[in-house]
Amino acid sequence: MSARSLSRALLVLSPFVALAACDGSTVTDDAGGGGSTDVFVPPGVDADMEAPDAYVAPGEDANGPIGDVTYYEDLRPIIAQHCQSCHVAGGVAPFPLTTYTETTTWGGRLVEVTRDRIMPPYLADNSGDCQSFRDARWLTDAQIATFAAWHEQGMLEGDPTTPAPMVVPPPVLRGAVSTLDIGVDYAPDTSGTDDYRCFIVDSPGGYVTGYDVHPGNPQSVHHVIVYEPTDDGEGDEARRLDAAEAGPGYTCFGGATVNAFPVVLWAPGGGATEFPAGTGVEIPASRPLIVQIHYNLLASTATDRTRVDIETTARAIPAYILPMVDSGFNIPPRMESYSSSQMQSLDALGSITPRVYGSFPHMHTMGTRLQVDLVRPDGEMCVIEVPRWDFNWQLAYWYETPFRVTADDQVRITCEWNSMGRDTNTTWGEGTQDEMCLNFFYVSL
Ligand code: HEC
Repeated sequence: MSARSLSRALLVLSPFVALAACDGSTVTDDAGGGGSTDVFVPPGVDADMEAPDAYVAPGEDANGPIGDVTYYEDLRPIIAQHCQSCHVAGGVAPFPLTTYTETTTWGGRLVEVTRDRIMPPYLADNSGDCQSFRDARWLTDAQIATFAAWHEQGMLEGDPTTPAPMVVPPPVLRGAVSTLDIGVDYAPDTSGTDDYRCFIVDSPGGYVTGYDVHPGNPQSVHHVIVYEPTDDGEGDEARRLDAAEAGPGYTCFGGATVNAFPVVLWAPGGGATEFPAGTGVEIPASRPLIVQIHYNLLASTATDRTRVDIETTARAIPAYILPMVDSGFNIPPRMESYSSSQMQSLDALGSITPRVYGSFPHMHTMGTRLQVDLVRPDGEMCVIEVPRWDFNWQLAYWYETPFRVTADDQVRITCEWNSMGRDTNTTWGEGTQDEMCLNFFYVSL
């Protein structure tokens, strides 16, 4: 099976083609109490909710926390590893969690946000019920129980002379790096609390095999997505949009406005991303790349010059970003929950059986839930589940165990929205008032 035939099959599969044919519109995508009871149940957790696993700290037994849970011995190592990439002075989080006092100030809330898995921000379920992902920003049940036990026991300080925890350095790029530079100190549009801007940059050509983003203003840059136009014409169209609007770049919300797919998905606190070994996404030098930056201006309105480092090679096993789409939904207004789902055939794969390495789910601000399942002749397999969608955290999820798909498989994508804030129906589109229901697969041979 050749890379070229995979490329052709995916082109046929691409819903860009099908969608453009059926509704004539331009569809672009883009692309987030302690004690010694047998089982520890945090306060506020009732019997109907899933009880966390028994808390087992080092040196304790499976019957639960026996000794004191203290800040210095038990909590600080977890916070250093899982919270401080954002909760530091000048970081993207609105307050630091670096001292005992800062931590006690937020005591009860820390229990809730960890129990509900609101923090650290990571949208996909990584429990193993629906896959697990590499480098997941995911607390273990025991770590969650440690927050609860610490709070329950009165937020004990412990021994301040305990050695500071070793902080695992974030991953870095290992290969040759080209820097995509937006070229200006951009002054965000402060007429609202958010500004979504697309900047055009030249492509270095070759294959992208990894990326890292260095925000110019870490307090306002909330996410960065780099799109590759699907062909040179779409690239020209992006340049036209840029020229037509005053100032650097052009306004864009749910995508690049032109037909394009995401190559880089970045939100703060992560470090570098390496694509699966040997694979890369081709970025022809003949068309520009589009760097979309979401500025949230509540903490800072200062100018920004974000740099995107992309690791490139001349040759790689080609990977493709393949969209799985439900575009036919029509969400009635004022509904707490509305869901829609669509099956997509993989017929066009023919005899090719590519591997799926990653998933990039995407919805807009009304989205609450997203799930993708593989429907196979011999049963179903959950591929990604996002129990609580959050537009602010659009991330790439890399499978711990990549899986193959065949022409006999179908993909079902299911999305749920809350339309309580809307007075009219909501359909597919790129605008702030439109919605999407989309998951990109990162596939390769
Ligand atoms: C990747 C960045 C990041 C990481 C890692 C992170 N936070 Fe946050 N946190 C934020 C941001 C940003 C906010 C502001 C609200 C938002 O944008 O979601 C926030 C808000 C909070 C809040 C206030 C939210 C509320 O609803 O009251 C708490 C409490 C919190 N974080 C605790 C934690 C804890 C505990 C950890 C580690 C276990 C953690 N965070 C890890 C970025 C992060």
